[in-house]
Amino acid sequence: MDRYRVFKKQTFSSGNYSLVPIRHEDRYSIMQWRNEQIYHLRQDELLTKEKQDQYFTDVVSKLFPQESPNQILFSYLKNDKCIGYGGLVHINWKDKNAEISFIMDTSLEEEYFEYHWSKYLELIEEVAFEQLNFHKIYTYAFDLRPRLYIALANREFRKEATLNEHCLFEGKFVDVLIHSKIKLTMILREAASDDLETTYTWANDKLVRTFAYNQKRIEKEEHSEWFLSKLSSNNCKYYILEENKNKIAGSIRFDIDDMGSSAMISYLVDPRCTGRGYGTYLLENGIKKLVQTKPNIDHVYGFVIKENIASIRIFEKLKFSISYQNDREIKFEKTIA
Ligand SMILES: CC(C)(COP(=O)(O)OP(=O)(O)OC[C@H]1O[C@@H](n2cnc3c(N)ncnc32)[C@H](O)[C@@H]1OP(=O)(O)O)[C@@H](O)C(=O)NCCC(=O)NCCS
Repeated sequence: MDRYRVFKKQTFSSGNYSLVPIRHEDRYSIMQWRNEQIYHLRQDELLTKEKQDQYFTDVVSKLFPQESPNQILFSYLKNDKCIGYGGLVHINWKDKNAEISFIMDTSLEEEYFEYHWSKYLELIEEVAFEQLNFHKIYTYAFDLRPRLYIALANREFRKEATLNEHCLFEGKFVDVLIHSKIKLTMILREAASDDLETTYTWANDKLVRTFAYNQKRIEKEEHSEWFLSKLSSNNCKYYILEENKNKIAGSIRFDIDDMGSSAMISYLVDPRCTGRGYGTYLLENGIKKLVQTKPNIDHVYGFVIKENIASIRIFEKLKFSISYQNDREIKFEKTIA
């Protein structure tokens, strides 16, 4: 297998699917798919075996040893069979962005188009964001394949721009759409009075109330008094989770006992952001942040209603142990000293 100098690891996998540095043996399959799908590619004429051989010799083979190649190409495999190819192209190393390219075996498109695009995006995101630490990746596509937008939306790519009538296609000018995704960055910061509105909305959210001990609707005044008292209390540390550019995504609160040695955890994720690992991030990193400011705390605990499967899973994942349970709830505890 050829190896890219830019990578520490060469194979990126998810289940049966993987990306590996583009394989010489896959060049004619790739040529065939490109020719079959020429209508949506920036390619003027059909490829021949000779041209494809020359491209692999002149261009592809030179990418592997480079420190900053302008493109990085992969074979997309199911087990060991190549069923597509693509990569990061027009790489801008300075601004840490790149365009995504991908085509799959044409025979898979009818039934599995969205599936393979989504799988491929998952893998290429790992390459771009985790391996190369890029800031942004994007697709540039003629507005001809609406199914592509479903796959992009599945992976939370946002439509960023329409280039009106940008390309000439079969005698007509068609739009080009750019969809992009920016690397997720998360921080935990201290809660502040500006967070009153957001925390009030959360307090009355259906999911939050379902798993809360007091299930009654909370009035604004009551919340306001409670929230501000928590901010000013020495026995409380209250953190807000922010994702990219100040988007508030959750909170974690630690109510500390009078001895200053233990803290009770309450945490929640904005209902629009659940299922993305934020709950796990909040609990894991909230505790780390807590002990930085309150080093005397030696254990933390939380009560979870038994139906709250997601929260139970998080406590278990983070190696809390059960110190008490009854028909309704479980107490999870962890020593952190
Ligand atoms: C509980 C809560 C914080 C979870 O947040 P989240 O960001 O969705 O959680 P994560 O994505 O980090 O992880 C949830 C885990 O539970 C799993 N999970 C979620 N629902 C599940 C279900 N019904 N069955 C099995 N597992 C489930 C997920 O698969 C994930 O596990 P994994 O990482 O092993 O795949 C969020 O739903 C919430 O704010 N609920 C309301 C307030 C609340 O209940 N707070 C906790 C009080 S103790």
